Amino acid sequence: MSASQTSADWDVLIAQDAIARRVHEIGERISADYAGQRPMLVTILKGGFIFLSDLMRAIRIPHEVDFLSVQHTGPWDRPDPDVRILHDLRSSVSGRHVLVVEGIVGTGATLKFVRDYLEIRSPKSLHFCCLLRKKVGDQAPIPMRYVGFEIPEEFVVGYGLDYLQRHRNLPFVARFHP
Ligand code: IMP
Ligand code: MG
Repeated sequence: MSASQTSADWDVLIAQDAIARRVHEIGERISADYAGQRPMLVTILKGGFIFLSDLMRAIRIPHEVDFLSVQHTGPWDRPDPDVRILHDLRSSVSGRHVLVVEGIVGTGATLKFVRDYLEIRSPKSLHFCCLLRKKVGDQAPIPMRYVGFEIPEEFVVGYGLDYLQRHRNLPFVARFHP
């Protein structure tokens, strides 16, 4: 059974099969780029967990996963640049090849925080992967090694991303219009 493609408050922006193809391509690239390095994939909860679960099954080399949970203060559409750690990594990243896996990059404030947080813990390498990158004028300049899709500056839900904790379970990415 496939999920409905229309709703009063969202419409599909990136279809399920397009996501699957792109995730597979990124998995192939990661498998080649990190061969022999046993990378540690660090996902930012909650939004990145669906992407991670599909991505890790598209990666054909040994790797580990770990989780960081961060929280913004402020309203959902104007998050405060202040970010705090709710749940820390279980493993040490020191000397490891770390790839941060994020669902979506908007202002880049979250990744900037995560980069600073991880960098001082001396990983051997630190790179970033996101499924979606919004075209935001004043985005923090975080170089991304892998980007799934560039999207306009619109609010999206699905494939792990929420609006007030709803719609994470949609199997595609949808534009949200309340
Ligand atoms: P940032 O603006 O790049 O720091 O993004 C902050 C966080 O806001 C992301 O990690 C997501 O959790 C969330 N976010 C940003 N844009 C969207 C969106 O369009 N839909 C759902 N969550 C979003
Ligand atoms: Mg959210």
